[in-house]
Amino acid sequence: MILVTGATGIVGRGVVKLLLEAGEGVTAVSRSPETAGLPEGATVVSQTTELAGVDAMLIAPRAVGETTGELLTAAAAQGVKRVVLLSAVTVEYGGGYERFAAAFKAAEKAVEASGLEWTFLRCADFAANNLAWAPQIRATGAVRGAYGDAATSSIHERDIAEVAVRALLDPSHAGRAYALTGPESLSQHDKVRLIGEAIGTGLTFTEVPPEQVRAAMLAQGMPEDVPDRMLGYLATCSEQPGPSTDTVARVLGRPALSYADWAADHAADFGGGLS
Ligand SMILES: NC(=O)c1ccc[n+]([C@@H]2O[C@H](COP(=O)([O-])OP(=O)(O)OC[C@H]3O[C@@H](n4cnc5c(N)ncnc54)[C@H](OP(=O)(O)O)[C@@H]3O)[C@@H](O)[C@H]2O)c1
Repeated sequence: MILVTGATGIVGRGVVKLLLEAGEGVTAVSRSPETAGLPEGATVVSQTTELAGVDAMLIAPRAVGETTGELLTAAAAQGVKRVVLLSAVTVEYGGGYERFAAAFKAAEKAVEASGLEWTFLRCADFAANNLAWAPQIRATGAVRGAYGDAATSSIHERDIAEVAVRALLDPSHAGRAYALTGPESLSQHDKVRLIGEAIGTGLTFTEVPPEQVRAAMLAQGMPEDVPDRMLGYLATCSEQPGPSTDTVARVLGRPALSYADWAADHAADFGGGLS
């Protein structure tokens, strides 16, 4: 039995699906089991401390938050063997505001201290973060944002999910910290162009001052840490491109999916196929 926290997230959903396809038992955690929309084969719970029969668990830091220590203590006491943590490349490569890297470092430390076998998946920015552009692409056919030259090697959520499933099921990944990225660093100008190609239209990225972007995000009701996290990392990556590694290819035995692959998979989210 595998426990998946953050099971309704972009990565968690993929992990649940792949585990069920592999014939594994899955307990999925959601604050709203009735509306979680997870596959029937998964047992969906709102509590995470009932761990009898769980062999391994996936920890999504944003979902587990301050209960991480409690969950790890319960896991160690109830015979869970392995934990896979969704961490971030900033832990290893720096960039962005130190306080965000510090939160992932603290989660890694707590996992190490638990005595469980662990694998850290230090993920680059998820390509799926760019789904935030979908409303303006649909409404205006353009993207307005800050730091257009900021380049990161965004990762496809499917690659993270596949690596996570390997690490959850195979003890040979224990004690490894994997820096997971896409195949190459691309600027925001390039990413918007590739989304345009996926939906069959010319799209452009228009530069807007960061303060204006921040104010717009706050006006939409986002908590303060969201623009801080996103703009802080983009500011760093406009000076120095984010890292690219070959870890996905080494773990999965196939190349990491490209940003163009991701854009094609999400064309419908950006209004592709609607004309
Ligand atoms: N996005 C990135 O670029 C990036 C990069 C590196 C690492 N990460 C890490 O990767 C993990 C997975 O990201 P993800 O986008 O798949 O999903 P996520 O943000 O972890 O959210 C997954 C689920 O957790 C629940 N959740 C969200 N916020 C919560 C909160 N404040 N308290 C309790 N539950 C909450 C929600 O499910 P319910 O409503 O069903 O409870 C949500 O669907 C994150 O935890 C993040 O720390 C993200």
